[in-house]
Amino acid sequence: MGVSHALPLSDRSDVTARLREALLEADFTADGLLELLGASAYAALARSETVPALRATRGDGDLETLVRLFLLQRSVPHTRVERVLPVGPLLECGWLAEDRAPGEDGALKATVDVRPYGGPAGEDWFIVSDLGCAVGGAGGIGSRDEGVVLGVGGASTTLAGVTVRTPVASALDVGTGSGIQALHAAQHATRVTATDLNPRALHITRLTLALSGAPDADLREGSLYEPVEGETYDLIVSNPPFVISPGARLTYRDGGMGGDDLCRSIVQQAGDRLNEGGYAHFLANWQHVEGEEWTERVRSWVPRGCDAWIVQREVQDITQYAELWLRDAGDHRTDPAEYAALYDAWLDEFEARKTKGVGFGWITLRKSGAAEPSVTIEEWPHPVEQPLGETVRAHFARQDYLRAHDDAALLADHFKLAADVVQEQVGMPGAEDPEHVVLRQHRGMRRATRVDTVGAGFAGVCDGTLGAGRILDAIAQLMGEDPVALRDRTPAQIRLLVEQGFLEPVGQ
Ligand SMILES: C[S@@+](CC[C@H](N)C(=O)[O-])C[C@H]1O[C@@H](n2cnc3c(N)ncnc32)[C@H](O)[C@@H]1O
Repeated sequence: MGVSHALPLSDRSDVTARLREALLEADFTADGLLELLGASAYAALARSETVPALRATRGDGDLETLVRLFLLQRSVPHTRVERVLPVGPLLECGWLAEDRAPGEDGALKATVDVRPYGGPAGEDWFIVSDLGCAVGGAGGIGSRDEGVVLGVGGASTTLAGVTVRTPVASALDVGTGSGIQALHAAQHATRVTATDLNPRALHITRLTLALSGAPDADLREGSLYEPVEGETYDLIVSNPPFVISPGARLTYRDGGMGGDDLCRSIVQQAGDRLNEGGYAHFLANWQHVEGEEWTERVRSWVPRGCDAWIVQREVQDITQYAELWLRDAGDHRTDPAEYAALYDAWLDEFEARKTKGVGFGWITLRKSGAAEPSVTIEEWPHPVEQPLGETVRAHFARQDYLRAHDDAALLADHFKLAADVVQEQVGMPGAEDPEHVVLRQHRGMRRATRVDTVGAGFAGVCDGTLGAGRILDAIAQLMGEDPVALRDRTPAQIRLLVEQGFLEPVGQ
């Protein structure tokens, strides 16, 4: 796949363990880095900008040595490296190499990028990736080789954040790359299988897991679900190569199928790979095609027997989209005529597919076996509070509740207003009555929803003591309304408030 330089040996767990120990000893951790670099240089590094970090590591302390070697990929004098790392074994196993650059006598350099990554419970993990490829995105990755393995990007952490983290027996990570999703899954799954089309990625995943002190995973080479034919899992996660591009070029992002076919296939085929009650989480891109509702396009991807929650987080028009990925590959730094030809090819591809924009988002499936699965498809471009795993689990639990309760059952039940909900009045300054009332949550999806006076009054009274119907009767009396009419028209609003997590059924 076009990248030739050798990777560190993955079968020398003794040496990997010594490296882990040395890294921790020198405080080469997410917190240690933040302290050494300061918030500004630390954030710049996440944007692939290295100058502030280079300036912050001009001293000759052990942590500076490690940052320069593994994050900034500079050569460091042998004698300095020896103070902090077991140089002999690391050279033998290929974590380090002699730097033969002229004027760099006796210097060493790293062969891979090693980046501290803090786990959700404060674990000190390390993500291994190819040199210059720790973070993608604007500015371009440091390599244009087809088979390079990237480190952790925004998409990786988004997927890790939305994943439901209940303990499971088996988890599958499709397109494991640096191994970040497998590493997260190893914390709550007894057995983790990780697949990738790129053997280099599987090798790097093994290094990431070992260096992070996590158990090894069952690593399998192949496309999509081919390596796990006939097997089923409690959890499936995938941050697939979702980019809709004019042709396969970079394995980590270009799936090699036409348009959004790779995303469609991986979602559609997940139904047969999930155990009952299991979740599958995907990041995906989808085409916005002329004359077609995007919601109908993604709805058709949902496999039978699965509930789904699909959230479109962003839509880009085709020019923004092409530019994003041209930059990601560093194509903007090539000859202008070549860049123009590449740009043209992206637009030709979109024109041929009648595509006017591309949606980005998350797709969650839960195998419920329900005769009438609940499929929620929505656009929510607003900031959310990660990690959302628990919010995602609760969403599906609420769908179960709503499915099992008709309007009469809803009115007989008791509800509590969720924590952190506030009411906002919207209207002209100085006006006596608000034009409308908004309920807003400050946690999870940070939802806001418009309610009428009855909805606001109802939500305000919900502390779990009175049944919903009794509350409505009291409101009807206060407002001089017919209680029967109110009981008739309000369940739809209660349903929405429950669905969006503003109201929680007591005892759920
Ligand atoms: C965007 S990267 C995601 C890496 C990692 N899981 C993460 O969350 O950061 C996509 C990965 O899918 C792999 N890949 C590409 N085509 C694939 C295919 N057809 N089947 C399985 N994996 C594939 C790439 O090699 C790459 O490692």
